[in-house]
Amino acid sequence: MRVTIDSIGKSFPGVVALGGVSFEVHPGEIHALMGENGAGKSTLIKIVTGVYRPDRGRLLIDGAAANFASPRDAIAAGISAVHQERNLIPRFSVGENIMIENLPIRRGLVDYGEAHAQARRFLDMIDPSIDTRAEVRRLSVAQMQIVEIAKALSLEAGLLLLDEPTASITDHEAQALFAVLRRLRSEGKAIVFVSHKLEEVIALCDRVTVLRDGKVAAAGELIAAMSRSRIVSAMIGREERVAEIGPRTFARGTPALEVRGLATSLGHKDVSFTLRQGEILGLYGLVGSGRTELARALIGDARILAGEIRLKGAPISIADVSDAVRRHRIGYISEDRKNEGLILAHPIRANIAITIWPRLASRLGLLTRRLEERAATPLARKLDIRTPSLEQQVGKLSGGNQQKVSIAKWLAASVDVLIIDEPTVGIDIRTKTAIHELIAEITRAGVSVMLISSDMPEMITLADRILVMRDFALVGEIENERRYEPMSRRIMGFIHAGLEAGESQQEASHG
Ligand SMILES: Nc1ncnc2c1ncn2[C@@H]1O[C@H](COP(=O)(O)OP(=O)(O)OP(=O)(O)O)[C@@H](O)[C@H]1O
Ligand SMILES: [Mg+2]
Repeated sequence: MRVTIDSIGKSFPGVVALGGVSFEVHPGEIHALMGENGAGKSTLIKIVTGVYRPDRGRLLIDGAAANFASPRDAIAAGISAVHQERNLIPRFSVGENIMIENLPIRRGLVDYGEAHAQARRFLDMIDPSIDTRAEVRRLSVAQMQIVEIAKALSLEAGLLLLDEPTASITDHEAQALFAVLRRLRSEGKAIVFVSHKLEEVIALCDRVTVLRDGKVAAAGELIAAMSRSRIVSAMIGREERVAEIGPRTFARGTPALEVRGLATSLGHKDVSFTLRQGEILGLYGLVGSGRTELARALIGDARILAGEIRLKGAPISIADVSDAVRRHRIGYISEDRKNEGLILAHPIRANIAITIWPRLASRLGLLTRRLEERAATPLARKLDIRTPSLEQQVGKLSGGNQQKVSIAKWLAASVDVLIIDEPTVGIDIRTKTAIHELIAEITRAGVSVMLISSDMPEMITLADRILVMRDFALVGEIENERRYEPMSRRIMGFIHAGLEAGESQQEASHG
């Protein structure tokens, strides 16, 4: 399928999302669509899939004008997509969600056996371990993303658009997805791929279109002919500058949070570590290794079966998330920011100020909009939140800008310990550095940070020490020398040693 995007424009109140965008996607190619948060990528994908109607310009499919009044029309025309935000029905099964657009019917009734069998086939392409009969609301963020991908694949479309499909899945699953995409490419399908991860774009895609502020900064250039730095300067409008994180020092002696022999209802066994005041303690591990679950246990969202948690030397018990923040001053930036972190119908100002509400209210007896603004404005500026004003509803921001609000809110909070889960997934290259610097800045003020990240360069840039987790247990601890090669080798060494030990145990029990 050949897709021609011809002078497409789309505005929202106060925002020109697309200001006349033109490029072509050819059959048998994987076409990357890149650009900073708010550049217009998702808006363009929603126009091609009939979710939005363009204000001007035309969409041509194989040379013929396409006028989609709804997503149904686009599906009927052979177009399928994985959108950036999840569109699954939480109480339906995995299988029903995957097959929802074409449930097999027999004698007037849905043939569920057949539906699950077909769903299985598409799910197996990415992750055979997900049960098609499981309820979607029980899945992890990564598993939901895989279900979305399987659903898009099940339509066997001529044009497949993927909006940040790899944002929360493991590298292993991403490689499985890329193998499927390469096969579809060889069958002549057209694929549009949105990602902020430059390395995967360079490895996977044939051409790249870059959007900057709703305009085309590079149109369908051959990736092979474009250097990394040229793609980046097309995105940010100037040469890339690698910003250094400013110097940090902290008193190595003073423990902020101590965990001893912790076992939880989520499956942790005998977890012990110390987070010192002003330290950034990295927690590395594969997706599914129990890192997010450890964070949940530390904010009172799991039962503690054994061991203890000490804060500034004294044992504490944490009743729930609000107890963690209010009484113990422990905060958590969830990886599932859209569902857990934000009130989408409220303005940016109120979302950022929500965690400082007790502080403002107790000091002044009332909370005024002016005070919220005063707290929110500098963070919105530092994180470069793209919006017509701080009064904009968070739900109307681009995906990456919503994440920035969720991070800003916790950076504004008065906490002593902040657990940060995957801070820069879906964040553009420029803002990523700003977030790293802000994390460093709060530690200079004495906040202790536990950093969960699957992004190895990020971990090695930021962490003072790195803990390695596997199967809900800590399997290694390393002082970070901040040199990429030796550090990544040592970290992966812990993970592989664990994997090999696990495999030989299995072999022993089979033999
Ligand atoms: N429904 C909406 N109402 C108002 N403004 C919107 C709406 N949807 C998008 N926008 C605005 O349009 C612009 C482009 O947003 P879009 O979601 O297309 O960006 P994006 O390139 O996908 O960014 P990201 O990398 O953060 O996902 C942004 O300024 C955004 O705030
Ligand atoms: Mg987007």
